[in-house]
Amino acid sequence: MAVSSAPGKVYLFGEHAVVYGEPAVPCAIEVRAQVGVEQRSDSKLRIHAEDLSLDGFTVEYGGTAGSPPDVDVSESLLTAAMGYVDVAIEHVRDVTGEDDVGFDVTIESDIPLGAGLGSSAAVVVAAIDAGTRELGTTLEIDELAERAYQTESAVQSGEASRADTFCSATGGAVRVEGDDCRMLEAPDLPIVVGFDGGAGDTGQLVAGVRSLREEYSFASDTVEAIGDIVRKGERALERGDIEELGRLMNFNHGLLGALGVSSRSLDSMVWAARNAGAHGAKLTGAGGGGCIVALDPSDETETALSYTPGCRDAFRAELAETGVRRIE
Ligand code: PMV
Repeated sequence: MAVSSAPGKVYLFGEHAVVYGEPAVPCAIEVRAQVGVEQRSDSKLRIHAEDLSLDGFTVEYGGTAGSPPDVDVSESLLTAAMGYVDVAIEHVRDVTGEDDVGFDVTIESDIPLGAGLGSSAAVVVAAIDAGTRELGTTLEIDELAERAYQTESAVQSGEASRADTFCSATGGAVRVEGDDCRMLEAPDLPIVVGFDGGAGDTGQLVAGVRSLREEYSFASDTVEAIGDIVRKGERALERGDIEELGRLMNFNHGLLGALGVSSRSLDSMVWAARNAGAHGAKLTGAGGGGCIVALDPSDETETALSYTPGCRDAFRAELAETGVRRIE
């Protein structure tokens, strides 16, 4: 068996706008998905994930007595997560030229699904890495990131940027603009995450921004304005100017709100963080529900979030300096 893990991420800047060619700056965090892949003697694919098991096309889901699902997510979301693994394994077969090989795949993830922390990217990166290593091939990080991106893109019908998968493969803070991805120098950021217990539908939210952009010119201007914030944010990151980073994150959140992708619980958590003295706070990822990211070196934001109605969980997240980790 080969086991790899890969980190989730927060968007410091640029989600949604990145879909239209603006840059984005995601940053990997030490919250990981771990995937074990073991070759089978037949050509079947069996996927085990906590309360979910998937064998061929049969999905069984439901908390067993005494071990209810940890996170409130719908069955369809979990099924979708398994769809990513299916395509990831196709890439493993393609890379190694072993078309008929079957696998047992075990997923353990601390990253809430569909909540803006890059859960699917982390699972895909770890699955491709462990799967190829199980067959004796170790991929270069660039190829791993490329294969992981192709996987997300196929599952999301072409509506995926390279941001999540590249960041999860490399770790650290990265800059993504179209096909151009690179790592950035970043200081140790005081990241706090707030999670509302829910999830947004990335496809629907991306489609919503697309139609808003077609109908209203303010929406395309907003996307461009987000691009300007990202460029300023990159420079602030390189200078290690946390105050300016926070201010720019606040602006970015306001613009995402104008694009209609925030929600009451995300806004409540953002305001709770700001009132607690965070340098800045914004939603991360597609929005609609899920997580916010705040910058606060003190414990105030985490404490305030834990009392904020609508916040299910709040935690400090270290920047993940390593991306994919080869465990076994
Ligand atoms: O919610 P996430 O982590 O899947 O992020 C989606 C980010 C978008 O910019 C909205 C879409 C994308 O693929 O970049």
